[in-house]
Amino acid sequence: MTTIPQKTLNDGLQLPAVGFGTYKLNGASGINSILSAIDTGYRLLDSAFNYENEGALGEAVRRSSVSREELIITSKLPGRHHSYDEAITTIQESLFRAGLDYYDLYLIHWPNPSKDLYVEAWQALIDAQKWGLIRSIGVCNFLPEHLDRLIKETGVTPSVNQVELHPYFSQEQQRAYDKEHGILTESWSPLGRANKLLQDPAIKKIADAHEKSIPQIILRWHVQLGALPLPKSSSPKRQLENLSLFDFSLSDEEMQTIGKLSHPHGRTFDQDPSRYEEF
Ligand SMILES: NC(=O)c1ccc[n+]([C@@H]2O[C@H](COP(=O)([O-])OP(=O)(O)OC[C@H]3O[C@@H](n4cnc5c(N)ncnc54)[C@H](OP(=O)(O)O)[C@@H]3O)[C@@H](O)[C@H]2O)c1
Repeated sequence: MTTIPQKTLNDGLQLPAVGFGTYKLNGASGINSILSAIDTGYRLLDSAFNYENEGALGEAVRRSSVSREELIITSKLPGRHHSYDEAITTIQESLFRAGLDYYDLYLIHWPNPSKDLYVEAWQALIDAQKWGLIRSIGVCNFLPEHLDRLIKETGVTPSVNQVELHPYFSQEQQRAYDKEHGILTESWSPLGRANKLLQDPAIKKIADAHEKSIPQIILRWHVQLGALPLPKSSSPKRQLENLSLFDFSLSDEEMQTIGKLSHPHGRTFDQDPSRYEEF
């Protein structure tokens, strides 16, 4: 089985350098896909209240031969429950749905700035961490202005910021902000949801030179950037492919070639957190 290097968060929690995305893995077939991912060697599993698969995830964890303590299980607070009391109840409900005693990582899913309740939601995560319901707390899709406010108003810096990140949208400024503040950047849709990125000729050339696949080159690029990719796959074969990233490396020139593919309108679905909101 592939050995995955570890990364240490600002609160000391260790995460493997690649995780597993579970969006759209639901029900009995979802359980099978998640079990296969654990068998393949994934230890970080990324879910959300809104994916409606915390139950499948919890069931896969119970059926797996890997102990609970070896797994890093993530879920996320939905935008409709940002007020303090609702956020606390939702975290409890997330645990009941999964049948777990604690989450390793719990994130605010979207800042939803027009509602202006994300600081309240953050206070709920801070308290839930103190009560032992969550080991590490972070956010998704937070821009520097949102993070500045959390830190200023609560004094607590998130451990993780999970953002859309792939070669067509490389998040250079957000990554620099996160790094400067000791926040680990996780990459969602690291393969661009298998859009035309997976046929990109410049990446294909690099893949051929390394005798690797295009997804492997893209995921290795994330790892070398210092970001933590969360590829989703329902296929055991592709799950293994996406984890087999640690027997080669990209040169500085190859990293730059991939970096140059990024453009300001490169988001897959135009989900700019300054105006896009999810509930
Ligand atoms: N925080 C947020 O707001 C947010 C938003 C979106 C996603 N996420 C998280 O990030 C995870 C990953 O993002 P994502 O699911 O949107 O997209 P993704 O991981 O970039 O792409 C998934 C797609 O790529 C295909 N695929 C995977 N590996 C492949 C390979 N080696 N070769 C060819 N195709 C491959 C999958 O198909 P198969 O399944 O058929 O292999 C699926 O269609 C999600 O599952 C979720 O956990 C978070």
